[in-house]
Amino acid sequence: MMEVLGATNVILEGFMGSGKSTVSELISDKLELELIDTDEAIEEAEGRKISEIFEQDGEEAFRDMETGLMEMVISEHMRETVISLGGGLPVREKNRELLKRAGKVVYLRTSPETVYDRLKGDDTRPLLKSENPLARIKELQDERGKIYEEAADIIVDTDGKSPEEVANEIIAAI
Ligand code: S3P
Repeated sequence: MMEVLGATNVILEGFMGSGKSTVSELISDKLELELIDTDEAIEEAEGRKISEIFEQDGEEAFRDMETGLMEMVISEHMRETVISLGGGLPVREKNRELLKRAGKVVYLRTSPETVYDRLKGDDTRPLLKSENPLARIKELQDERGKIYEEAADIIVDTDGKSPEEVANEIIAAI
């Protein structure tokens, strides 16, 4: 196998609506690398939507599934793969330890206003169901901003940039 990433993985973290899924698809296309989207992998394994998992089993059960998935990435010595994380995965300390061992972490940093604009009308994110979604986004980002920054090897600001620009910036930096 040709080593594009130096035998590691590139992992995209960031808040909901930061563009992780779109950008990781672009990176995987451009560099011809495998792609795993943790939300999609969990939905496939469970045969249920994330909103259903939250409703039926609760958030902690979903976080356990995320931990299990990252443990699998490490135990299978997965490499040369682009991994797009669910926005809350790095919040658990255990998951952050696993991330460190799993590859190079890129944080897609995005302002609450941009997140709000990108996700208006989206009803697939149980954590953003609120009378005032913008305030909810700000509150969650306040809790998570430092966590994302500390877990990151590379930080890319995405406000005002197209997914293509963000993908190119990451490719130049890894
Ligand atoms: C979550 C983000 C979602 C999904 C779940 C919880 C979070 O993924 O994993 O709804 O806690 O931020 P995206 O970041 O891909 O929307």
